[in-house]
Amino acid sequence: MRYYYAPMEGITDATFRRLHAKYFPGVDRYFMPFLSPTIHRTLTHREARELPRADSVDFVAVPQLLGKNVEDMLWAIGVCADQGYDEVNINLGCPSGTVVSKGKGSGMLSDIFALDAFLDAIYAKAVLPVSLKTRIGVNDSENWEKILEIYRDYPVKELTVHPRIRKAFYKGDCDMAAFARAVEGSPFPVCYNGNVTSIADAESIAAQFPAVESVMIGRGLVADPGMLAGGTDRDTLKAFLNELSDTYCRVFESKRNAIYRMKDNWHYLIGLFEGSEKLWKEMRKSTDYDRFMAIANEIIETLPMRDHPEIIW
Ligand SMILES: Cc1cc2nc3c(=O)[nH]c(=O)nc-3n(C[C@H](O)[C@H](O)[C@H](O)COP(=O)(O)O)c2cc1C
Repeated sequence: MRYYYAPMEGITDATFRRLHAKYFPGVDRYFMPFLSPTIHRTLTHREARELPRADSVDFVAVPQLLGKNVEDMLWAIGVCADQGYDEVNINLGCPSGTVVSKGKGSGMLSDIFALDAFLDAIYAKAVLPVSLKTRIGVNDSENWEKILEIYRDYPVKELTVHPRIRKAFYKGDCDMAAFARAVEGSPFPVCYNGNVTSIADAESIAAQFPAVESVMIGRGLVADPGMLAGGTDRDTLKAFLNELSDTYCRVFESKRNAIYRMKDNWHYLIGLFEGSEKLWKEMRKSTDYDRFMAIANEIIETLPMRDHPEIIW
């Protein structure tokens, strides 16, 4: 089984990926949070920072693009090629209201003729292999078969399926029957994504779908960063989080912004610790960097750790 780190906007940025790979080996590919190309055809300072040269790190990362304008997307694919990447991933799953209302992300699944025309133009001219990350529909999964037929007309490098409709956001059960339909007779590799929070979960996917060779994990890996490296131990977690916070202070030039970013991590991580309610409440309220770090260290050093994180999201 190959393990992919799911793209998570606001969490798995370039700093996070570099440090996660340093402390917790085991991820085969890190998918980057989406980049949204605009007609201006330039990268902002932040976007350039988030798209470092592929050979500047010693792990594999895949840039993800979100957009519906073919020319802008082709321009961005060219930028990714210039940066040395060997694949780009297109986001057909983002459920956010502001994205969907512009007909992007999972919004692209609502007009299958436009989706077909978009993919036709992209695959005709893309200078890199293109993989897709998709949901199974917008308000229902009625069109899922048709969407799959469209994908199957193109040389998709790999299709990652998050088997939920847009309306479900990240909640509830995944539709395993819809996932099975994506796997049956697929001409390209299909990767599973959704609610995997342990190696046992990934093995269960492998047992149910022998043709599936890759699983993409998001929240489960933020909650248990060492899941693929034999478990998360206190010392490694402490070193990882300390270096992550320090680096964010430097990159953002703001301790306040570093705290925001670390709180987004702790939202998932807190489930690793028993009896953490009081300290977690204090941490959430904290706006002082030194106090925030002291609480984080108190949690890591003193609270009993679970073998698997409690799923609290
Ligand atoms: C905070 C957050 C940010 C996300 N950002 C992205 C993104 O930039 N691109 C993307 O394709 N999916 C994004 N996702 C979806 C995840 O990649 C993944 O599909 C989803 O979390 C389900 O997988 P999981 O159950 O393993 O977390 C995001 C999810 C969350 C919760």
